[in-house]
Amino acid sequence: MQIKIRSGGHDYDGLSYLSDVPFVIVDLNNLRSITVDVQNETAWIQSGATIGEVYYNVAAKSRTLGFPAGVCPTVGVGGHFSGGGYGTLLRSYGLAADQVIDARIVNVDGKILDKESMGEDLFWVIRGGGGASFGVVLSWKVKLVPVPPTVTVFTIAKTLQQGVTELVHKWQDVAYNLPKELFIRVIFDVINANDNGDKTVQAAFNSIYLGSVENLVSLMNTRFPELGLESKDCTEMSWVQSTLYFNGFPVNGPLEILLDRTQAKRFYKAKSDYVKVPIPTVGLEGIWKRLLEEDQPVVIFSPYGGKMSEISESATPFPHREGNLYKIQYLAYWEGLEETAKQLSWIRKLYRYMAPFVSKNPRQAYLNYRDVDIGQSKNGTATYLQGKVWGGKYFKNNYDRLVHVKTKVDPENFFRNEQSIPSVANA
Ligand code: FDA
Repeated sequence: MQIKIRSGGHDYDGLSYLSDVPFVIVDLNNLRSITVDVQNETAWIQSGATIGEVYYNVAAKSRTLGFPAGVCPTVGVGGHFSGGGYGTLLRSYGLAADQVIDARIVNVDGKILDKESMGEDLFWVIRGGGGASFGVVLSWKVKLVPVPPTVTVFTIAKTLQQGVTELVHKWQDVAYNLPKELFIRVIFDVINANDNGDKTVQAAFNSIYLGSVENLVSLMNTRFPELGLESKDCTEMSWVQSTLYFNGFPVNGPLEILLDRTQAKRFYKAKSDYVKVPIPTVGLEGIWKRLLEEDQPVVIFSPYGGKMSEISESATPFPHREGNLYKIQYLAYWEGLEETAKQLSWIRKLYRYMAPFVSKNPRQAYLNYRDVDIGQSKNGTATYLQGKVWGGKYFKNNYDRLVHVKTKVDPENFFRNEQSIPSVANA
């Protein structure tokens, strides 16, 4: 039987709790203690905790420490940290996995190992290579990161009629090169343009700056004046309040909302891409056209650069570093099961349309935006070459080292799933 390992259960294609072969779930839901050491600026976090619980516990101890992980508070630590994990502090500090300094893992022999006893190779794979191919990660020791007592956020939304195409075209050159303290992502959706039922694409420039309003406005006036940012568009708050802001929660409301583990129940499918060269205007217009075919599409452009460019491609299994201007996430949402085929077909068509504009050979993808469309095997029994179909996209040249470590630590392929790293022990 397959062993499924589940922490927060947020796997986009459900690989932690679905399979077409018999399986058992090792559910870490109740292993979720968090111990914050303010003096040493570290924390031990068990895999079943959510990132909202991490933010809450860090903020309860200090206003000037934060942690760079994802936006949605219900995401589980186990899958998130082992697959990378990024959020609004990405350009300042990199990924959640980049902060890991120790871990405890149950290996295939049932032994609990720490950083020293697991050795360099196993410690490397669990920081971006996905834990599920190698063992059950119980807990993580991470570095916390400094944040100013006050950060600044803003969201400016523009429609097609208000010049989205030109703004996004410019954003592609600007966002990657900004100082690392400034993160401006763009979220696209479709809204009503008027009362006649006409639709338009809306782009929300959604940002956090680790500094004051005054400095931000002056920086934006120099680097991205086209957006027209003014002080009145900005709000100062603590870093932990910014985690509420990015989720649309009231920023002055109780922080306890970060502890709510209830997951939204919606049908959706997601995919990812990396952009290395700005998409020409005509290419952007083709995206808008396809978004307008759908009722609830969401596309998010997240800028890279900053700290992400300073970390080498092989420092961890996560290879998408220098030279990636931004990452795209495509999302289709729908209400009823009967809509599924239509929605899957729409998002796959959009993905095909994007091929000329995004990374190639391989077309890169983000492991934590799991996408079985890019390749999978039945019951985790892929060969080296079959595994490379998705492994090359998620890990580029790091795939070979992942296979090497897998073969060493789990030669019989005990820990496997539809997109796991193959062992070549019996090849
Ligand atoms: P889940 O429990 O489903 O596990 C995911 C994978 O990791 C599975 O293969 C599982 O077997 C394995 N795994 C889990 N725990 C393990 C453990 N302890 N040891 C070994 N293997 C383990 N990502 C991001 O980077 N930034 C973001 O802002 C967001 N936002 C976001 C919002 C929402 C609503 C969703 C559904 C997802 C995201 N994500 C994200 C993606 C998220 O990072 C990704 O789905 C993580 O793998 C989720 O980790 P969970 O532990 O919740 O998932």
